Amino acid sequence: MARINVTKTYLPNQATYLNYIQQIWDSVYLTNNGPLLQQLEKDICKFLPTKNLLVCSNGTIVLQMALKAFNITGEVITTPFSYVATLNAIVWENCKAVFADIDPETLCISPESIESVITPQTQAIIATHVYGYPCDVERINAIAAKHNLKVIYDAAHAFGSELNGQSLLNYGDISTCSFHATKIFHTVEGGSIIAKDDAVFDTLFKLRQFGHIYDDYYLPGINAKNSEVHAAMGLSVLPDVPKIIQERKQVSELYDTLLPDVSRPSFPKENFSYNYGYYPIILESEARTLEIKNKLEAEDIFPRRYFYPSLNMLPYVKEFAGKCPVSEDISRRVLCLPLYAGLAKEDVYRIAHIVQQKTTPALS
Ligand SMILES: Cc1ncc(COP(=O)(O)O)c(C=O)c1O
Repeated sequence: MARINVTKTYLPNQATYLNYIQQIWDSVYLTNNGPLLQQLEKDICKFLPTKNLLVCSNGTIVLQMALKAFNITGEVITTPFSYVATLNAIVWENCKAVFADIDPETLCISPESIESVITPQTQAIIATHVYGYPCDVERINAIAAKHNLKVIYDAAHAFGSELNGQSLLNYGDISTCSFHATKIFHTVEGGSIIAKDDAVFDTLFKLRQFGHIYDDYYLPGINAKNSEVHAAMGLSVLPDVPKIIQERKQVSELYDTLLPDVSRPSFPKENFSYNYGYYPIILESEARTLEIKNKLEAEDIFPRRYFYPSLNMLPYVKEFAGKCPVSEDISRRVLCLPLYAGLAKEDVYRIAHIVQQKTTPALS
């Protein structure tokens, strides 16, 4: 039987994609804010909807650009339960990552924990909408306003999730997204950044292209541009996003039916529309998590320990990071099951069956 990974890249209609590629051949315009990239930015702004959005080269560099745009050089409060890119962007920008523990229900950063680690050096919060579930945006906003902090959301997982009738990407002073091939909406490699403030957006626009516009040099920027070939993929995938989310919803709901007793993180039931980006389950122990993972792998099914390890345990931050008991505990017991548009029902049954199998008693 074919190998099943935790996710499978969505490939759009090939003719649609090749039609865009033909336009590149016709225009001989391959990169540098080309017509397809500009079209993609417009189409995404209409789709979400949002404004002040830039498509960039990936979902990591946009986090770095966010810190640069706000001149952040001090302490940044962040979550230990995220992909390592969230932390690395802070470290790479020579800022100090300060971890706040997570909420045991949503697995997003806990507002109480944020408050407990604020110091006079704190300048910003980088919080991840884990699995596309919303952070407690209202409380985080209130804390940031009280302490004069910038709020940057790593919304890498949140494309298509909506809170209070608007895209989750619209929250925060800056919000970033990843358009990596594993994501619901993708450009093969890519990412986006949205700024609330027009002046910040203008800075980000310059930062993306080395800090200059033609012969006018403004600031030390970086190369975070994306190409016309990537934009062609984005333009081809974007119209299919509602269908992709619908199919993922059906797979998720089948898992829900088949795994009624399995523990799961929770997202708000009201005023929230989920993008069905992931299907995380939380097992009773690390031993049981590894047992299920091994059993699935023996059948050529590859779930993912996502996120593991808790980022405060990484060797380059461990010494000063402090403890995050909730994140450390959950990260040892979490497993994301395969979820993607087109995952066959029979495979979902097979996966659920293995997850339900009782532990084999040790031979005495
Ligand atoms: C939460 C989170 N932040 C950032 C990134 C980095 O995105 P990219 O791979 O596009 O650089 C990822 C990628 O998976 C992610 O999951």
